[in-house]
Amino acid sequence: MKLTVKILSSALLLLSACGGNPGTKTTGQNSEERFVDSVVSRLSLREKIGQLNQVTAGSIEDMEKLAGEGLMGSILNDVEPEHVNRFQKAAIESHSGIPVLISRDVIHGYKTIFPIPLGQAATFDTAIVRKGSEISAIEATADGIRWTFSPMIDIARDPRWGRIAEGYGEDPYLTSVMGAAAIRGYQGNGNLAKPTAIAACAKHFVGYGAATAGKDYNSTYIPLHQLHNVYLAPFEAAAKEGVQTYMSSFNDNDGVPSTGNKYILNDVLRGMWKFDGFVVSDWNSIGEMITHGFCADTKDAALKAITAGLDMDMVSNCYLDKLEELVKEGKISESLITERCKNVVRVKYRLGLFDNPYIVTKQDVKYAPEHLEAAQKTAEESAILIKNANNTLPFAANIKRILVTGPMADAPHDQLGTWVFDGEKSHTITPLKALQDNGNYQITYVPGLAYSRDNKTEGIAKAVAAAKNADVILFIGGEESILSGEAHSLANINLQGAQSQLLESLKKTGKPVVSVIMAGRPLTIRRDIDNCDAMIYMFHPGTMGGPALVNILSGKVNPSGKLPVTFPVSVGQVPVYYGKNMTGRPASGSETLLNDIPAEAGQTSLGCTSFHLDDGFYPLLPFGYGLSYTTFEYKDLKISGTSFSQGDVIRLTCKASNTGKVDGATVVQLYIRDMVGSIVRPVLELKDFRRVEIPAGQTVDVTFDLPVSRLEFFGLDNKFVLEPGKFSLWIAQDSNLKGALEGEFEIK
Ligand code: BGC
Repeated sequence: MKLTVKILSSALLLLSACGGNPGTKTTGQNSEERFVDSVVSRLSLREKIGQLNQVTAGSIEDMEKLAGEGLMGSILNDVEPEHVNRFQKAAIESHSGIPVLISRDVIHGYKTIFPIPLGQAATFDTAIVRKGSEISAIEATADGIRWTFSPMIDIARDPRWGRIAEGYGEDPYLTSVMGAAAIRGYQGNGNLAKPTAIAACAKHFVGYGAATAGKDYNSTYIPLHQLHNVYLAPFEAAAKEGVQTYMSSFNDNDGVPSTGNKYILNDVLRGMWKFDGFVVSDWNSIGEMITHGFCADTKDAALKAITAGLDMDMVSNCYLDKLEELVKEGKISESLITERCKNVVRVKYRLGLFDNPYIVTKQDVKYAPEHLEAAQKTAEESAILIKNANNTLPFAANIKRILVTGPMADAPHDQLGTWVFDGEKSHTITPLKALQDNGNYQITYVPGLAYSRDNKTEGIAKAVAAAKNADVILFIGGEESILSGEAHSLANINLQGAQSQLLESLKKTGKPVVSVIMAGRPLTIRRDIDNCDAMIYMFHPGTMGGPALVNILSGKVNPSGKLPVTFPVSVGQVPVYYGKNMTGRPASGSETLLNDIPAEAGQTSLGCTSFHLDDGFYPLLPFGYGLSYTTFEYKDLKISGTSFSQGDVIRLTCKASNTGKVDGATVVQLYIRDMVGSIVRPVLELKDFRRVEIPAGQTVDVTFDLPVSRLEFFGLDNKFVLEPGKFSLWIAQDSNLKGALEGEFEIK
């Protein structure tokens, strides 16, 4: 059987190469479809259902048996090379002859761990994100993995939600381009059949990040316009990038669980976006439609999922147990199963699995020096300088004696971040280790607290005492990795344990305090910012976080990371994000706050605006924000016209200058506002950005080519439209628009 399948696949490829249907662009696709048809037409109904079945690791014998019966379309969580090859052999020698798709959550690295995706987004550097995914794929394929459940492109505007760590933040445009870059890297830069490429999975489809109160798995209430304009946007970009798979999300939106949602799985995905890969459920999410109260039993769940458009069942067994019965009873047609099966086989074909099902093991790629180097560069670019009073950073030449303290200074497991199944902490280089290795500093290490939630305050006095002999105090705190990620949501997002107390005591010593926060989410750190002279925020930075940080502290690297998400003053402000609507009564920023209201003040609503009496209107830190060791200035905005229409590209140019004394990188951010719409448009929308390195004292030209089509939105008539009218635009250093260049144009 193995031989038959191989010959079939190669012969059809040959046909395609010779141009079976000369001159048409669809030649390759036709040969692909002929191959898929020929494979699927030989299958029994049960074997077709088998392709829709994904199992998790179990006993090798059981798994081998299942594969041998053609009932294991895919497996997750067994990445032992010897097992992988055994499953493949059993599958290929079975009657179906279809290789198994070996899958794994390779989320921000396989062995070499990169910063968590939220940190990757902070680089505003799509090339480095693409490179990271490419490296993840190279390492993962060495163990036979050909499919990852990444990227997660859920828009997240609530830092209580632990999974905010896994995505690219709050913004649809940033998430779209970062997601697309990750997909390109995983999928071999367009050459999926390359043995070192893996299929990507755009997840979680859709709306999962809008969970009520930030509680994981919770219901969402996203109306249609917002669904299309915000939450679906990155998923459409993924389809355009050629992502091979999607994963349906756990949540119900307005009462309909995604796994049984025909509108998103069929009408949008297959209808509007012409997607021809396959959709996998999330873990047991078919079965969970019973718990939701959406399905009566497993048969009902299988029926609702398959008819909605869900191709592969992740571990619930509902498909394997019930689909055959549903066909026999005439509730669904066999041709529906055939279509779903073809979607899966098509992806396997594209991966070249029929020709190369076995692992071509290259173990020495794991933790390869160039992989570690890329991980370090990503960590460097992801670090965000939040505060730098009196140029505390980089360390001046007279800084020799450093007191290193805080629970994340030497936490090799925790700095890796969430969703690390395969990276080993023995390879992590912590800040403490990197500082000790650096050799230029005398390091005293007093942890102060044992771990991030540690409430025991005895260690604080020791740290304070040690500060006497230090030139600078380096506090490295934040969150352990287990405090973010799946099922790890928090109601309070202050620094955990006694960390704020430690920081406060350190500040009181009068020594300069540099604080580094390593976390999986934005934390409410207003008082902590006050208790230090300089602060660097690193979303969990991965294996090479230590050396990356030391390069920044020493000035070898100038920080350039920008916030991919707004930081709230308090949890009470959440959700707080820059792309909000104006409202009829926007705050002006000069509102009377709680303590300025006189006693027995009379009730009035005249002139009142939308803000909180206690925390005001502004967030703690805006989207796009991040300082540098130098300063930048933008000038000379030019727009290629005043009025444009569909099909046009608006050319915007400006000059960006590094006005300081050291080289650095700035992220030039292009925002627009559609002034009047058939539905209210956000006060600001990021439409493009450029990360540019500029030597000290120099000026560079920056050009944006903005296709007018990017101004379309899902309007009142439930269609994407380009509406005529006035637009404002800004070229800015962050979403606060301070010092931004301003312009306007019109769409006719
Ligand atoms: C998560 C997914 C993940 C899957 C497989 C689920 O619990 O929600 O993101 O890919 O498990 O591990």
